[in-house]
Amino acid sequence: MYQCNELQVQGLSQNDLAADGRSPALLSRCLFDVVVEKATLDALMVEEKSPWSMSQQTATFIHQALTEISRCLRPGGRFISITFACPFFRKRLYARTEYNWSIKNYNYGDGFQYYMYVLTKGEPLSAEDAALERQVIEDPTPYSHTSKKEVPEEDYLFSIDI
Ligand SMILES: C[S@@+](CC[C@H](N)C(=O)[O-])C[C@H]1O[C@@H](n2cnc3c(N)ncnc32)[C@H](O)[C@@H]1O
Repeated sequence: MYQCNELQVQGLSQNDLAADGRSPALLSRCLFDVVVEKATLDALMVEEKSPWSMSQQTATFIHQALTEISRCLRPGGRFISITFACPFFRKRLYARTEYNWSIKNYNYGDGFQYYMYVLTKGEPLSAEDAALERQVIEDPTPYSHTSKKEVPEEDYLFSIDI
């Protein structure tokens, strides 16, 4: 852990965070090797009706949280994010050049899968993730980025011969 005279602990309780998830003054001068979140960003999105469209308010809030996480990581430091959100929905939030991190993702579990994203500060986005960032800037709606093959017309139901 990076030295920070005012902060001796390695884990922080929720009381150490501002009520809205952003860093209070205590943390504003600290740098960390690792920031871990498990289902906390999910909690910030819990009032969203659908993963296919996010309200501007939530999108802004998530962006503020990610900006702050990125800011307090030392070069080479890692943000580890554990969630049920699959790469299709989650990578589009993390793939932003301004966060100045690379993205790797892993999945675990049989049937009921969960995902771990490892974001390394100071590394560039891969070509694929940089392309995703451009795609999201052009059109923030994930639905339009799926192919017809992935999201078939609903009238396929009428074609089922039973
Ligand atoms: C699904 S729980 C996960 C808790 C813990 N990370 C774990 O893995 O057991 C989501 C957590 O996010 C917290 N949370 C919700 N909104 C938050 C916010 N605005 N700022 C910080 N934490 C928040 C909730 O209180 C809850 O503890």
